[in-house]
Amino acid sequence: MEEYLAMLALSPADLTGCRVLDCPGGASSFTAEACALGADAVAADPAYAMAPGDLAVRALDDARRSSDYVSAHADRYEWGLFGTPEAHFAARVAAVGRFAWDVRSHPGRYVPASLPELPFADEEFDVVLSSHLLFAYGDRLDGAFHRDALRELLRVCRPGGSVRLYPLLEYAGAALDGLPALVRELGGDGVDATLVPVSYRFLRGADTALVLRKR
Ligand SMILES: C[S@@+](CC[C@H](N)C(=O)[O-])C[C@H]1O[C@@H](n2cnc3c(N)ncnc32)[C@H](O)[C@@H]1O
Repeated sequence: MEEYLAMLALSPADLTGCRVLDCPGGASSFTAEACALGADAVAADPAYAMAPGDLAVRALDDARRSSDYVSAHADRYEWGLFGTPEAHFAARVAAVGRFAWDVRSHPGRYVPASLPELPFADEEFDVVLSSHLLFAYGDRLDGAFHRDALRELLRVCRPGGSVRLYPLLEYAGAALDGLPALVRELGGDGVDATLVPVSYRFLRGADTALVLRKR
């Protein structure tokens, strides 16, 4: 939760009483913590098609793999937040524990779904969050996927609500050449796009979130 708030330029008050979507939710504890704060939050991810036990095992494997990656590329990260790769891994394991507990206690909050098609109604959500999928995997997900996924995230968000994305960098390090054209295209579709500086610091250079609002 703390990391999501910092990377997406949100405060707890932006969530309380709101219908919130986290896509992809991955093994994040955000949805559990947002519901505890009084949000009506759900998470969507293709991985949620797995049985809860298998999902927890996969989530721990992912935490280990991500921590191994971060350790192997430590110079690409700022360490003020976690201190050490070991502390980063411990934070991820704690989040997986909270996530795994919530999946078992509130399975309805975890919806198996894959962008660019989500099983939610038009304008169902006040706040839609998407971290560490779009843009981050730009070396594997093409421009058409990004355009379709953004349109889908906007479809399920009410006018005046916000779709928030982070990071605006590829893990592989390439610049996001397609982002300005994509934002211009969305502007033509009646969407205001703002680049917002964020306080979160981990992946070097990832200091901005994209906030989209339908007019
Ligand atoms: C690096 S995790 C990010 C999870 C979470 N947002 C976070 O920041 O901790 C990426 C997630 O994207 C999910 N994913 C992969 N393809 C997807 C798609 N087409 N639509 C939605 N989620 C997808 C994966 O299953 C994985 O859980």
